[in-house]
Amino acid sequence: MKLTLPELIRDTPLVMVTAYDYPGAQQAERAGMDLILVGDSLGNVVLGYDSTAPVTLSDIIHHARAVRRGAPETFLVADLPFGTYHTSLQDTMRAAIKVIQETGADAIKVEGASPEVLEAITVLSRNGIPVMGHVGLTPQTEVSLGGRKVQGRDEIGAQKIVQAALAVEAAGAFAVVLEVIPARLARLITEKLGIPTIGIGAGPYCKGQVLVYHDVLGVYDNEKKIAKRYAELGQLATEALKQYAADVREKNFPTKENSFIIKDEVLDHLY
Ligand code: KIV
Ligand code: NA
Repeated sequence: MKLTLPELIRDTPLVMVTAYDYPGAQQAERAGMDLILVGDSLGNVVLGYDSTAPVTLSDIIHHARAVRRGAPETFLVADLPFGTYHTSLQDTMRAAIKVIQETGADAIKVEGASPEVLEAITVLSRNGIPVMGHVGLTPQTEVSLGGRKVQGRDEIGAQKIVQAALAVEAAGAFAVVLEVIPARLARLITEKLGIPTIGIGAGPYCKGQVLVYHDVLGVYDNEKKIAKRYAELGQLATEALKQYAADVREKNFPTKENSFIIKDEVLDHLY
């Protein structure tokens, strides 16, 4: 059953995974995920971009609709992509409403804690759109962060992330993702906040964890320190496709079992 917002703040660990399509969403729901995220990691793992910046609102909507169809009973969060909550409050409201209306998502997620983003969180949540925050490594602005590296290792950086998390909570977010920050900094933030922290590369002390579907399932060859591979789907898929190709070339597929029959007398008339 879908969690309600009050249930999200309970004490047991929250488990979130990303999904981008109908089968992935079905698998996530059947596996009992508490939350599913249609992340803009879509850009990297599904669309083949090298960052999340090119992902558009239409991309997110297109995929979130498929995810919702596959997981009707799971709390669904959709990322607002880069550029859709940066131009004006009105644009932000429009983008968030469009996502909620057109996809059936339960909440949206935005990155950062700039005054503009905080204002967006305030206005969206005040108007009944639940917002998940996201601080630490924020991939949409990774260029200005100096690349995909651990955030908050020095005192100034750590202080900035604590302040960002507190500000996101104060603005009205119902939860916050902490991405790629030291474990003990994530623990400190988790203790300071009333809302749940959901970590990725942020150690074991967060209230919840989130991973990218393709990382959990080992779709690509790249090993990631922050993730754990629970399967080798990429390898399995390549092997299966090789088998299929070999079967066709060696005339082992299709066989009688894969074929349909027609009565002799019908066919005889055609010869
Ligand atoms: O887009 C995404 O997958 C995310 C998670 C890593 C939190 O934002
Ligand atoms: Na994201």
